Amino acid sequence: MTVRPIRYLGDPVLRKPARKVSRVDDSIRKLIEDMTESMYAAHGVGIAAPQIGVPLRVVVIGMPDEDPFALINPEVIERSGERRLDEGCLSVPGYRGTVTRSVKVTVKALDQRGKEIRVKAEDNLLAQALEHETDHVNGTLYVDHLDAKKDLIKIEPIAAHHEEDDD
Ligand code: NI
Repeated sequence: MTVRPIRYLGDPVLRKPARKVSRVDDSIRKLIEDMTESMYAAHGVGIAAPQIGVPLRVVVIGMPDEDPFALINPEVIERSGERRLDEGCLSVPGYRGTVTRSVKVTVKALDQRGKEIRVKAEDNLLAQALEHETDHVNGTLYVDHLDAKKDLIKIEPIAAHHEEDDD
């Protein structure tokens, strides 16, 4: 497993819709391992392949105190409700912002064995991460969802070491 450097806002790989994975093979499983390591090294709760420079539709989610899992070719197939949330991103270090996210989210994807799965979440960090990470493989960042510039807040360097995690 290899920790790979995180790509930051301004890197074109973050802005291009990523390519669909046609076959879930060992190279994809190796990518998932590297993404998982890179996510934990950066204290994130989620990561998408473009964030380590790989333009594929692969996401890893690692909720606190839960086993991490991968979503390949994730698609939000159902969303409902609205809530305002504080959000950050490993690719936008030093900032947090307030965005509108859904209350209920259902994602359809393949797991790391290539089996179709559905992940449902409601009104929690997982629901937020499912939307945030699926956005990433479509070339969207949370800063695109800000209503106004004032909704983006620069956090002090000390706050970067705070226990709050970024997606
Ligand atoms: Ni992110």
